[in-house]
Parts: sequence; structure tokens; C-alpha cells
Amino acid sequence: MPSRNPLDPIPHPPRTPWLGNLLSLGATSPVQNMAKLARQYWPIYWLDMRGKPLVIVSGHELVDELCDESRFDKSVRGALRLVRNFAGDGLFTAYTQEPNWSKAHNILLPNFSQRAMQGYHAMMLDIAEQLVLKWERLNADDEVDVVHDMTSLTLDTIALCGFDYRFNSFYRETNHPFVDAIGGALSGTMEQSGRLPLEDLIRKDRDRKLRADIRHMNETVDGIIRERRESGEDLGRKQDLLSYMLSGVDKKTGERLDDLNIRYQIITFLIAGHETTSGLLSFAIYALLNNPHVLARAYDEVDRVLGSDPSRTPSYAQVNQLTYVSQILKETLRLWPTAPAFALAPHKDTVIGGAVQAEEELPDRGARRGTPPRPRRVGRQGRGLRPRQLHPRGRARAARRMPTSPSATASGRASAASSPCRRPRWSSG
Ligand code: HEM
Repeated sequence: MPSRNPLDPIPHPPRTPWLGNLLSLGATSPVQNMAKLARQYWPIYWLDMRGKPLVIVSGHELVDELCDESRFDKSVRGALRLVRNFAGDGLFTAYTQEPNWSKAHNILLPNFSQRAMQGYHAMMLDIAEQLVLKWERLNADDEVDVVHDMTSLTLDTIALCGFDYRFNSFYRETNHPFVDAIGGALSGTMEQSGRLPLEDLIRKDRDRKLRADIRHMNETVDGIIRERRESGEDLGRKQDLLSYMLSGVDKKTGERLDDLNIRYQIITFLIAGHETTSGLLSFAIYALLNNPHVLARAYDEVDRVLGSDPSRTPSYAQVNQLTYVSQILKETLRLWPTAPAFALAPHKDTVIGGAVQAEEELPDRGARRGTPPRPRRVGRQGRGLRPRQLHPRGRARAARRMPTSPSATASGRASAASSPCRRPRWSSG
């Protein structure tokens, strides 16, 4: 059956009538399935999401081209638009044109700098030591739930550095109720975004639960902000993100962030920061255990930089000297990107890859026909674990040669995506 979609020259998996490519993604592991398709149709393909085209770009050159902010903007659509129900115009879900996006950007950017990280170092150590203490006390035959512990580590770290709040996850048998509310709000929103027409009518109980989770998050965060305001202390004194948000002034507008936006930013940091980072750490540990030669080299570096006395806590400068460990983390992100895609849309009609026409609005007009870049096989070397090439000097060259784990993106308009990783390489050589 000839395709009615004008993106037709770009390869795509076979479609099912009415459902389009919904079945190509499946219900349980859509991202993994998208990644498989990306390997098959590398470097670009499209999916028919029940009439709405979704173009997925994963080759380095195309992704690089689409990262040009003068031509492409982030696209807040689909599930991400629903996340606005609790993340509002926080940085992740704000439209670029919304005043709070640039205001928060200007106020917050310096607080993610290397210098700012130095200020958070003691808080990060505080939580890391809780993890080490827990693992130290286990018996040799005790099982470790690595993913659970990494989630505790990252959530507690963000909460402490973000707003001086302790979830105390390492001292609990069950999750802090706020943590359950975040999980509920995210899974409830994903479920909502995947509903079929009319399904809303029979999902009232789930909607009620979603509203309760969001209410719980809002009340907790609002309480933290209120408490800080009413504490009477100098708002700029503490070295956490909340202090910076309460006291920071956007130099461009002379304005501060209001409390509602600060609530959205706090929720955003918790959501954007915890699963990405805990997933990365869990995958890195898995990779290390499966690559003993890499693990041995990592041990060597840690012993050389930190010394052999485990009771001495690492300084910020020492952590920065762990370059091989940093390469391992980057390689892990290349292989298992924990933010596997982001969505973009062109500011106006444009050609990508020198051949494919990407148009500003697609649902009714579609992209004009063009010849897509020729598919290239993803080489086996791209899928193995090779940290050697993660060395900063080799990075740019390797970036062009090595495929990332395929990443995807969604948009009703022509769009593209990328993995966040920037080249590492795990190899024995
Ligand atoms: C391994 C860890 C992480 C990964 C892989 C990751 C990945 C990403 C990606 C792919 C984006 C979208 C970029 C874009 O649209 O151009 C993003 C945005 C963002 N991330 Fe992360 N992230 C990580 C950790 C964190 C942490 C720890 C925080 C906060 C504490 C954070 C906060 C944010 C925010 C606020 C945005 C939106 C930025 C904006 O649009 O202005 N992320 N991240």
C-alpha cells in the first residue's frame, strides 16, 4: 500500500492499518524497540504514530546538525507536555519563548558550573558515605540491590544539594512518601499519554491517584520553600539551589523567580536528575563487573589518585583527577543512554542531511520528498564497551566514527534527537 505520508522516502518499518507503527514500539519497552529500529534503519527513520509522523535521527552527523539552536528548538509535545501538569514552566518543560525559561536559565546556569560543584562537594560526600557505610556492613553473601541503592544515592544527593532536605533513604525500609509520589506522577502521566480515545472515561481512578500524587509533591515542596522564607535567615547564605533561586536576580530583566516557578524547578531537578544519574551509575557498575580489565584499570586510578587509606575522604580536586573513571561514565552513557532521546522541531522549513526536507508544521503539510541519507550499518565496534577512546584527546575523531546507542525523538513536526553522551570507549587495548 503506498504511503500517504510525505516523509515516505525516509525508511520506516511496516505499518498496521489504523495503529500505524504503535505495535513497532510495543507497550513494555518502547525505547529499546526504537533503538533496535534505529540500528536497522540507521541513521534516520520515521514512525507513523496513528497519523502523526515521528522522525528518529541517530547518526552523529544528523544529530550534530539538529543541535544547531539557530535552526532547531526543543519540542514540548506528547508526554512531555503532560509533565507540565506538575513541572509547569520549569526548565525541562518550559517552552523556549516563556519568560521563565530565560529568567531561570540566567539565574541557575552559574549554579551548575564547576565552581558551584565545589560548593556541593561536602553534601555529595555526605550521602556517598551513607552508601559506603551500608555496603561496608553487608556480609559477603548478602545481595545488593544496586539500582535501588543508586536511586537512593542520587535522590538524596539532589535533595540535599538542591534544598537542604534529607529523604534519608538509606535509613528506611520503604521509600519516602515524596519519592513514591514522584514515581506515581511520572508513571501516571506516561499511562495517560498512551491512552486510546475514550479510555479517559474508564480511567477515573488512575486520574484521581495522579492528582493526589501531584498534590502531595506540590504541598511538600511549597512547605520547604515557605519554611526557608520564614526561617528569618539570610536567603542567600546557604549554598544550595533553593538559596540561589530565592535570592538570585536575572541580570537581563532585574527580576527574581516567583515561588510557583521555584516549586516547578525543584520538582524538575528531582525528576530530571535522579533517574538519569542513578541509571548511569547502575549501568556503569554492571559494565565494570562484566569488563574486569576496565575495572582493574579503574582501581589503579582510584588508588593512585586517592591513596590507599580508605578513611580519607576524597577532595574535590582529587575527584576531578579521576579521568579514567570519567571516561567510563561517558562510555556507559554512549552504550546505555539514560536520557535516550530529546525532541526538536525546526524554527522554519529546512533541509537536513543535505537531502531531507524538514518542515515547520507537519501534520497536515508534511515534509517534502527528498532522498534520505543512505543507511549505514552500525559496526560491531560501536556496540562493545571500549573506554580507551574516551580519552579527551581522541574524542572528536571518535565521535564521528562511533555510533551512539540509537536515540530517538518525537514530534509532529520534522525533528531529530540525540543521545546525551559524548564519546567514550571501553576496549581492552
Ligand atoms: C547522567 C545524568 C544526566 C543525563 C544523561 C541528562 C540528560 C539530559 C538531556 C538529554 C537533557 C535535554 C537536553 C536538551 O533538550 O537539549 C537534559 C536537560 C536537563 N537536565 Fe539533565 N541529565 C542528567 C542529569 C541531570 C541532573 C543531575 C540535573 C539536575 C540536578 C539535570 C537537570 C536538567 C534540566 C533542568 C534540564 C533542562 C535544561 C533546559 O532545557 O534548560 N540533569 N538532561
